[in-house]
Amino acid sequence: MPEALLEIRGLSKHYVTRTGVVKALDGVTLDVFPGETLAVVGESGSGKTTLANLVLGAEGPTSGSLRFQGQELGTNRALGLRRQIQYVQQNPMTTLNPRRTIFQSIQVPLQTHRVGLTNDHRKRAAELLQVVGMSPEYLDRFPSALSGGQRQRVAIARALAVEPKLLVLDEPTSALDVSVQAKVLALLIELQARFRLTYVFITHDLSVVRNIADRVMVMYRGKVAEIGPTAELFRDPEHPYTRMLISSIPVVSEEEEALKPQWPWERNLALDSAAVSQGCPFAPRCPFAEQACWAQLPPLTMVREDHYSACHMVSGEIPNKLVKT
Ligand SMILES: Nc1ncnc2c1ncn2[C@@H]1O[C@H](COP(=O)(O)OP(=O)(O)OP(=O)(O)O)[C@@H](O)[C@H]1O
Ligand SMILES: [Mg+2]
Repeated sequence: MPEALLEIRGLSKHYVTRTGVVKALDGVTLDVFPGETLAVVGESGSGKTTLANLVLGAEGPTSGSLRFQGQELGTNRALGLRRQIQYVQQNPMTTLNPRRTIFQSIQVPLQTHRVGLTNDHRKRAAELLQVVGMSPEYLDRFPSALSGGQRQRVAIARALAVEPKLLVLDEPTSALDVSVQAKVLALLIELQARFRLTYVFITHDLSVVRNIADRVMVMYRGKVAEIGPTAELFRDPEHPYTRMLISSIPVVSEEEEALKPQWPWERNLALDSAAVSQGCPFAPRCPFAEQACWAQLPPLTMVREDHYSACHMVSGEIPNKLVKT
């Protein structure tokens, strides 16, 4: 195993709200390796953006730690460390300042991180546009003149301007039309190989990760439900929640349908709001839930090499319970 680029240990972020404490992130431990794409999936509210904010240093954790290339990542980071980790957000309509030209937007990180001479910034910005498949003609245009896909390309160019090692991509294609989504994904794959980038790719959409991710981390209510190599996780999901997610991916052919795990039970969305003070957070929706699942939090347990699941059924505490259909 190569040395991890990013080490996350017991990371939690709890928000105190008027209605109680929200455990947006709860004890997440994870390594991200150089050059890989780690997809982070989970439904709305599972803590994906919270994780991104902590990795980027936009917020500090309630507990736990982060290290990047062995260096502690606090909230007050040295400029040189901040430069290594860049962000591409979901909504290309709001990430670019409407009053700045494309050149001015790309120039911001160049100035912040004092990359090159100011006189060379325009040339560098033109190169960056070409890198993301756009003509330098766009340099003096405003975001309003660009399509959603073009704006996202500019956002990617801006993130790449400072030559980061790690890109955190938070739903980078979900606001785009399907045909544009595929092109932006193809661009991201190409850029990763070209610049040896490492991606943390956040999405609520499992079908997107199949072609892009090396590993997938499935989150449920701020916790890791399952993490493993992409192909294996799709072929043989361990956690009932992962199975549920995969079974609900829309498919186009009967052959594909036949390959999917079946989820014949109700999805119990209403039950999801049931409070689980202890035990497995997925228990209210899980057709396999037993007494132990309500009483005890299942630990993240190794099921195969490099593949972990937080379910009592894999940790062996409920023997012979999961009959796979
Ligand atoms: N500043 C905050 N104050 C209080 N609660 C918060 C705050 N930020 C996030 N939360 C809560 O933390 C939980 C996780 O939120 P987060 O935005 O990380 O989810 P997400 O997985 O990114 O969801 P989505 O798919 O909708 O983007 C949610 O219940 C959310 O309401
Ligand atoms: Mg989010």
